[in-house]
Amino acid sequence: MGFCSPVCKILRRGKYFVLLILSLSVLAWIATFSGETVKSVLVSSATTQALVKEVTLRDKLNSWTAAPDRVNTQPLKTECPEKSPLLQGALNLSFESSLKLKDVEGDNKDVNEGEYEPSDCMARQSVAILIPHRNRERHLLYLLHHLHPFLQRQQLHYAVYVIQQAGDATFNRAKLLNVGYLEALKDYSWECFIFHDVDLVPENDHNLYMCDKQPKHLVVGRNATGYKLRYKGYFGGVTAMTKEQFLQVNGFSNIYWGWGGEDDDLRIRVELQKMKIVRPPAQVARYTMVFHKRDSGNEINKDRMKLLGRTPHVWRKDGLNSCSYKTLSVERLPLYVNVTVDIGKPQS
Ligand code: BGC
Repeated sequence: MGFCSPVCKILRRGKYFVLLILSLSVLAWIATFSGETVKSVLVSSATTQALVKEVTLRDKLNSWTAAPDRVNTQPLKTECPEKSPLLQGALNLSFESSLKLKDVEGDNKDVNEGEYEPSDCMARQSVAILIPHRNRERHLLYLLHHLHPFLQRQQLHYAVYVIQQAGDATFNRAKLLNVGYLEALKDYSWECFIFHDVDLVPENDHNLYMCDKQPKHLVVGRNATGYKLRYKGYFGGVTAMTKEQFLQVNGFSNIYWGWGGEDDDLRIRVELQKMKIVRPPAQVARYTMVFHKRDSGNEINKDRMKLLGRTPHVWRKDGLNSCSYKTLSVERLPLYVNVTVDIGKPQS
């Protein structure tokens, strides 16, 4: 014992020392490992947060850029007021023989390829103005001269389309308007369409070129007829229908060649759908008709009464869904989109 006891003492103490070292290492290892875990949890939660942030931003960016409409590209604009502060009421119209296209272009610098939208507010409606045309350049110039500033004062997002009938077959106003509707929708999802004669110039900018819940007839009176509605069901000259209203009636008939009847046909279609034509007050729905002789190639359609009798039976298959044509060119001019089209000729 006397010999073993100091050695045993040392061994015993050494055992405790080793145990102590071992315990300390285990503790140190646990501490290190748990530290890493906490760190990695922190890192992964930070990464998730960063990713979430990134996704939200990307989503926002997508939502600002993906859709082609103007609402998304300019999210900060507020809606234009219900009544534009720019309206002037009754206007002094001028028809100067010296007027040139360049003058009208110079007066309308904010119009780009026939299209305009207010810079300081979001327009309440997007409106396509469709003008059927052939050989009436001077009338078109007068109309553009008055119409562009008129529409801008109404704070509309709009574009003007002129649909030119190619060739010298009898004129077909209604079919050209069907073409205009179909072609304009290729550019933008216009919610409202104005079907506009080239020789009618609006006299009062309170006559709003916007669509209503019902089809709207904008020409209550014109200078040539003492500013009186021509007859109760008159629906010619300038009319406004939403994209859906026009689709619901299957558009205009395609078979009215020459002057007259196609507007009465559209009224019958509207009435068959139990829609009701509305009109602005007579004192604002006034137009000046630019004087002209009847064009050659647009003689009175002698068949129009016979055709009108058939409308209730044929409207479903004669209209937008049967409008065949060949687009010859689409020119994006400063003040309007010029669509030239071959619409064929009357069937004998
Ligand atoms: C014709 C219409 C025309 C109206 C007014 C009617 O007899 O059928 O097409 O708009 O007269 O001139």
